[in-house]
Amino acid sequence: MPALMMDEVRKVYGSGEQAVVALDGVSLEVGDDELLALVGPSGSGKTTLLSIAGGLLRPTDGAVQVGPHRIESYGPRELTRFRRTAVGFVFQGVNLVPFLTARENLLVAAEIAGVERRRARARAEQLLGELGLAGKEDRLPARLSGGERQRVAIGRALMNEPALVLFDEPTSSLDSRLGAQVMELIRAEVKGRGTAAVVVTHDLPMTRYADRVVEIHDGRLVT
Ligand SMILES: Nc1ncnc2c1ncn2[C@@H]1O[C@H](COP(=O)(O)OP(=O)(O)OP(=O)(O)O)[C@@H](O)[C@H]1O
Ligand SMILES: [Mg+2]
Repeated sequence: MPALMMDEVRKVYGSGEQAVVALDGVSLEVGDDELLALVGPSGSGKTTLLSIAGGLLRPTDGAVQVGPHRIESYGPRELTRFRRTAVGFVFQGVNLVPFLTARENLLVAAEIAGVERRRARARAEQLLGELGLAGKEDRLPARLSGGERQRVAIGRALMNEPALVLFDEPTSSLDSRLGAQVMELIRAEVKGRGTAAVVVTHDLPMTRYADRVVEIHDGRLVT
């Protein structure tokens, strides 16, 4: 079963004269251990596509399936549960909770999803180690470098072992060496755990870590 299927998805923001067509008939399938790069100019619909795949935004039209979840038919409660357990997000810019340590930023994701505490702690420990953050678990985000903060955000997205992880420009604030490191980490997670990932990037060298590159222009995929 593919990790993500989008069929003829349209998204229109606003209405009447202010209407903006952000996605215009997008059909896309992502395999269950596939790393897909999504590239395209600013305003082309990349964040909108990720937000719809992650159940943060509803499509105006079309079907969206994530693993077994037909999310376009979900009500608010099912959608909230889906977002907490079935997908991971790393948003544009890093958004850690500033008053929680690196470890706590990971644990909070597990807590929201209702994961048992001991299991969550073990998972956080393992991920922080894999992400090269051993010894920095108790630091607040302000005391981490940009690349380290980015890795904590990636760890948080992976905490609940989602089948699909959505990354919105995970390397944009990093220099090319750190960017490459982050992409290697994402690739290792995807291939090691059979997770699927969609990575939005402006950074063309980063696309070489992907299994496939899809381009979007004015809300339409071009292949
Ligand atoms: N909440 C909103 N209300 C109205 N229009 C929006 C909204 N969010 C995005 N848009 C518009 O939808 C289009 C697609 O936006 P989107 O954020 O998906 O682009 P993007 O490809 O992620 O761009 P960037 O690379 O700059 O992040 C743009 O024309 C944008 O102005
Ligand atoms: Mg965007």
